[in-house]
Amino acid sequence: MEFEKKKKFLEDLEVDLDSGTAQIINKDGKFQVEYYPCNKLKGSTTHCGKIASPKTNEAEVIESCLSIYNLIKTKEAPDGVLLDPTKISKSLAGTYKEGKDYDVMDEILGKGLNGQIAVVRDRVSKTDHALKTVMLALFNPNEIRAWVSLEGCSQFPNLYMFNKIDGKIELHHEILKKAVTLADVINDRMGKLREYPSLLHHFSLYVLHGLLEASSTMHSKKWLHDDIHEENVMLQPQQDPSDSPLRLRMIDFGRVKNLKEDRVVNDIQGIIRIFTSVYLTEKFNDVYDLQKNWETKLDKHSDDFNLSYDHKQELLALVKLALDVTLTKEEEDLKRIVSKKLKDSREEAPEILEDIAKLIFPENFPVRFLHLHSILNQFQ
Ligand SMILES: Nc1ncnc2c1ncn2[C@@H]1O[C@H](COP(=O)(O)OP(=O)(O)OP(=O)(O)O)[C@@H](O)[C@H]1O
Ligand SMILES: [Mg+2]
Repeated sequence: MEFEKKKKFLEDLEVDLDSGTAQIINKDGKFQVEYYPCNKLKGSTTHCGKIASPKTNEAEVIESCLSIYNLIKTKEAPDGVLLDPTKISKSLAGTYKEGKDYDVMDEILGKGLNGQIAVVRDRVSKTDHALKTVMLALFNPNEIRAWVSLEGCSQFPNLYMFNKIDGKIELHHEILKKAVTLADVINDRMGKLREYPSLLHHFSLYVLHGLLEASSTMHSKKWLHDDIHEENVMLQPQQDPSDSPLRLRMIDFGRVKNLKEDRVVNDIQGIIRIFTSVYLTEKFNDVYDLQKNWETKLDKHSDDFNLSYDHKQELLALVKLALDVTLTKEEEDLKRIVSKKLKDSREEAPEILEDIAKLIFPENFPVRFLHLHSILNQFQ
């Protein structure tokens, strides 16, 4: 096998081993790579987390079970790790169980591929937090590795604890209070905002910048998110006057991978698709559609939405720049450019983000009046 192909093969293999899609087995003294068939990964036939009653290969199943017991014993591996004891009160026995240590509330925060994100209440502290549950058979260990490494980074919710229980991995984490996914913002909350070109322009740049901040933070920790889309980014209103009125938070590390050779293309493409969706409601069907049709589609939508000449040229230039980003250092350059544009726009209208927050979250910021300056800007 030529060098480049061999390298790519080994990189892919490493990702598959990390994510649990494949494993190395020792067959008759020779090492082999075994891939789990798709149905096994979907959890339909896997015995992960369950008691098996094998009809065939009984000895093999017993040995696979015992090898794990032994590994747990020799590594002294716990079932989970408590990262924030101020939020979670585990029992004296060192467990954390529904109905004993926490209760599941009626509120559901959202739904994903693996099930619901529930609100749960700690029985001792009486505080609420979010609980994501992932089947062990589908679990990507990098979800936890990445999440732990992002501790304290404000663009992401904090992970409080992870725990293996009944064949599932429980991820107890921070609730993003009053937060709404960008999908819901775009679909339901931007009607009024679209009437003010200067506000729409600023908000689109704000989202682009926030996404680049979050992704570049992950990239600096050598993680590729690899699942950046509108349901995995949330916008949060903030009422503390000393803080910014909005905050963008990235969630869901379920597909995280090790960043290879600083290549960030997958995440940047996700970011571009969100940016154009916010600005012009153009989501692009897929990456192919983005690469092939971006110019024609964006050109047409800019006219349909009556974008000014300057805003249209700026949008096309930004998307072109972003499509050329492959490495982290180019991502940093793009972030700097967007940051400068945002700063200029804020200098012209210092209260602009407050006005945007009022239009997107009228329930949190009573809309008494918008600041004159941002509205006047629309005529420029
Ligand atoms: N910390 C949180 N605070 C508020 N809402 C949240 C939070 N985490 C998730 N949500 C909501 O739940 C939805 C699903 O969460 P998430 O994306 O983590 O799960 P998922 O898509 O099932 O994950 P995976 O892709 O790993 O299967 C989100 O789109 C969002 O609406
Ligand atoms: Mg998700």
